[in-house]
Amino acid sequence: MSKVLIIGAGGVGGVVAHKAAMEKTHFSEVMLASRRLAPVEKLAAEIEQMHGRKIQTAQVDADDVPALTKLLKDYQPKVVINVALPYQDLHIMDACLAAGVDYLDTANYEPPDVAKFEYKWQWAYQDRFAKAGRMALLGSGFDPGVTNVFCAYVQKHLLDEVHYVDIVDCNGGSHGKAFATNFNPEINIREITARGRYWEGGEWKETDPLSVARMFDYPGVGERKSFLLYHEELESLAKNLKGLKRIRFWMTFGEAYLKHLEVMQNIGITRIDEVEFEGKKIVPIKFLRALLPDPASLAANYTGKTSIGCLCEGVKNGQKKRYFIYNICDHAETYKEVRAQAVSYTTGVPAVTGAVMMVTGAWKGAGVFNMEQLDPDPFLEDVGKRGLPWHVEER
Ligand SMILES: NC(=O)c1ccc[n+]([C@@H]2O[C@H](COP(=O)([O-])OP(=O)(O)OC[C@H]3O[C@@H](n4cnc5c(N)ncnc54)[C@H](OP(=O)(O)O)[C@@H]3O)[C@@H](O)[C@H]2O)c1
Repeated sequence: MSKVLIIGAGGVGGVVAHKAAMEKTHFSEVMLASRRLAPVEKLAAEIEQMHGRKIQTAQVDADDVPALTKLLKDYQPKVVINVALPYQDLHIMDACLAAGVDYLDTANYEPPDVAKFEYKWQWAYQDRFAKAGRMALLGSGFDPGVTNVFCAYVQKHLLDEVHYVDIVDCNGGSHGKAFATNFNPEINIREITARGRYWEGGEWKETDPLSVARMFDYPGVGERKSFLLYHEELESLAKNLKGLKRIRFWMTFGEAYLKHLEVMQNIGITRIDEVEFEGKKIVPIKFLRALLPDPASLAANYTGKTSIGCLCEGVKNGQKKRYFIYNICDHAETYKEVRAQAVSYTTGVPAVTGAVMMVTGAWKGAGVFNMEQLDPDPFLEDVGKRGLPWHVEER
């Protein structure tokens, strides 16, 4: 039994806190900490009322490394689950090293002033974590996260070599708002408006933002137009899958969403650089975030399903084979269970599973790890039982 500390009390943090509190076998105590105490206390009250477990609460600015280190030293968790924003990743890793605590996150570090999704900043911590005998698990959400583990499963059990991977992500749900993002608007819009990128024949190929699309038939949802995007798991999977020839990532967007995004880009409100406004400097995308619906607030009226998976093609015993491995998740069901929509749920559940892997020693090691570097079997068994059942089909 171990203590766990969660940082971030947004849409994903809420799911992690609920599911961690429901995990009574492996977590002796759960603490939820965030920059503002009000959302933390609201969640703690909801969790006590719904699951009958009291969790501890704290206020911390994770960018204040000494303050966070002190909190970690006082509380002494076995692992920190970082579900604040990617900007905090390096500061939280620094505090974990200073306090001797294991680290887990769901999104790779991004510098605030440039939308650049790369593991290089976090991979640079390899030696420090290894020397300290501590583990850092990167990207334990759904994508990255479960998608990496799906690829590891296909590599371990189904194919001798994985040649082609298409990760396909569909939110077929409806929240009834004209425009909203399903997780942090700033991070989400930065990701979607960046140039597309995929890996083929040993090199990265770039495309204009949202310029390449294809139809894909998503189990549980149906045919949807899907757009090629760069997504961070491509970087580690291109490195870690044997014999890989090409890997791409696709995500669905509706017409209304794309039209809003186009207008917002044209008028400059998605800009991430500072602009002068009435004698002050503001970053337009941060102002936009303040105007858009809080993703957690979408949950109550969300209907429909998410459907996310990996289409993997390669060879087994010299024969060409193709598998699709996926999960379907229902927004209304996740709301019933933990008051969250499925995008937060599909991120938060794997974060808790990752932490369980770490505290039980099912996954162990000293250094910085991406999910596909570890044994997929115990993770997939746990994540399926914890609320995200998965399926494999030969195509
Ligand atoms: N891998 C995946 O599948 C996946 C999918 C979706 C999202 N994600 C990631 O999940 C993370 C959380 O997303 P979300 O939608 O829950 O975001 P969110 O709703 O904006 O929540 C972020 C939380 O972090 C807190 N926070 C921000 N800066 C902080 C700081 N300096 N110190 C302490 N707390 C701080 C925020 O506090 P305030 O309320 O004070 O701002 C808020 O509670 C993001 O990194 C996102 O990229 C991963």
